Amino acid sequence: MKLQAIHERFEELSAKTLASGRVQEMARFVQHGDTSTLDHTTAVARLALTMARGLRLRIDEASLVRGAILHDYFLYDWHDHEHAPDRWHGFTHPGHALRNAEADFDDLTPVERDVIVRHMFPFHPLPPRTKEGWVVCMADKACTVREFFRGLRKG
Ligand SMILES: [Fe+2]
Ligand SMILES: [Fe+2]
Repeated sequence: MKLQAIHERFEELSAKTLASGRVQEMARFVQHGDTSTLDHTTAVARLALTMARGLRLRIDEASLVRGAILHDYFLYDWHDHEHAPDRWHGFTHPGHALRNAEADFDDLTPVERDVIVRHMFPFHPLPPRTKEGWVVCMADKACTVREFFRGLRKG
């Protein structure tokens, strides 16, 4: 029942973003193993909302979900060294994602910017400044580990 409510809330909050800008282009890029960047960002957004509800956090759920969907909106295959913008993907991709998000969404909120640009903490030295940023940062790590092991099992 509770999970169903979270599922419905996620569908409600994510639908517009998933149909906007170049979001569907993320389906073309591999994130880890056989997981596309779109599958990854959608999973992170869904888990982040579930965690926030489970912890009963008072947060901006709309910004949490949109920020999470856009947190890896860098729009290239980071395994393809010829076409990636640089060789420092791990460090630079939050900045690329933010630039693309700003180009495609003219009403990006400060919370969404924080979610996007700080999600690589602690690999980036600057921690998130918002609760939403922290939740997505942790959901991203959990999904990345799950996707990595799923890829190993199939590979
Ligand atoms: Fe990322
Ligand atoms: Fe990510």
